[in-house]
Amino acid sequence: MSDSALEQMQVIFVHLNGMIRTANLYQPAHPQTRKAKQVLFEALTAFLGTHGKLMYRFMGDLLIANDRILPRESLVYRRFLDVCQTERRIGSLAFTNGLEEREVGSVLEAFADGVGGNLTEWTVRNRLTHVTLGPPIEADKQSGEAIARRAYSGAIEAMRDVEATIRRREPLSMEQLSTLGVLTSAMLQQIVADTGLALRLASIKSYDEYTLYHSVNVCVISIGLGVAIGLPENILRELAIAALLHDLGKIAVPLEILRKPGLLDEPEWRIMRRHPVRGADLLSRMPGSNRLPMIVSFEHQMRYDLKGYPFVREDWIQHPFSRIVCLADIFDAMTTRRAYKQAIPTEKVLAYLRDEAGKACDPRFVTVLEQMVRALPAEATAEASA
Ligand SMILES: [Fe+2]
Repeated sequence: MSDSALEQMQVIFVHLNGMIRTANLYQPAHPQTRKAKQVLFEALTAFLGTHGKLMYRFMGDLLIANDRILPRESLVYRRFLDVCQTERRIGSLAFTNGLEEREVGSVLEAFADGVGGNLTEWTVRNRLTHVTLGPPIEADKQSGEAIARRAYSGAIEAMRDVEATIRRREPLSMEQLSTLGVLTSAMLQQIVADTGLALRLASIKSYDEYTLYHSVNVCVISIGLGVAIGLPENILRELAIAALLHDLGKIAVPLEILRKPGLLDEPEWRIMRRHPVRGADLLSRMPGSNRLPMIVSFEHQMRYDLKGYPFVREDWIQHPFSRIVCLADIFDAMTTRRAYKQAIPTEKVLAYLRDEAGKACDPRFVTVLEQMVRALPAEATAEASA
């Protein structure tokens, strides 16, 4: 789906909300309300003429339009989403091509006054053929996984946008950070309910867009580790954002170095070794006051024994999140195929990590990761190293 379709779905939702608010302020028959209905109807007709169908789904705090999460609207219309699901008992709203203006009026009634308990009866009574309302979607394991997978692809896109902003040498906006916040929190809520999901999501790999997928994978593996050691949700949210942004400094590393098959020479290594500091520098200018992403970027290549980079004094105390992210980083990198190497089977990766426990990695987290991998069914373990 193109960006313009996404924008249209965002605008139509704003119109839908505008119509409901206008009807609340004025009367349903007031010219202002009629105008708002007309605006929504026209926007819908134009969209449906090209795309045929538009479906909004309300899933907890998330607004999903034709399978895409709308992070900004999820935040802005949080209260509305809650009222729809809990008071109106509406979980989805779909429009199809051929929509009539009177049907938009029925939608307004449904959102303003409810549908009286029975959606099917209400649909028949209002003779609706191009509008379908669905009940709230009960959270179960299957829908939880679907939400997490949508949030995963949303996070890939949001990170693509973050990278493009930094490449343009522009500062990150509060909105971009809120978007990352909505998507990581959607993933972490599902991982809290089902820890195995962390590694199942991290088995999504991309050969062509390694860095983007790697960032999101490190994020979900870190969340999984955080959940397994019992971190509370507000702390997990901070860990998730820090993990997602840990490698931002790699934007300054030329692609030929990042993708070089084989070993880097000394000048190339010098450039590579700068990425934690470069990332920390970028993140220090981030809006808001959270310093954790900056700390994690600075420390994630430091190793548990502090023999990595950047060089620090031996009494340096590494933040536990940096150790979690370091482990997630190694695990994802080793289980992914690159231009110069095959993915390494999970068992071999675990053996390597056990060997590095107390050296590159914090031994406590290595044990936790091993338990997470062991808890996965065999086929998922095979997939994780595919
Ligand atoms: Fe890194």
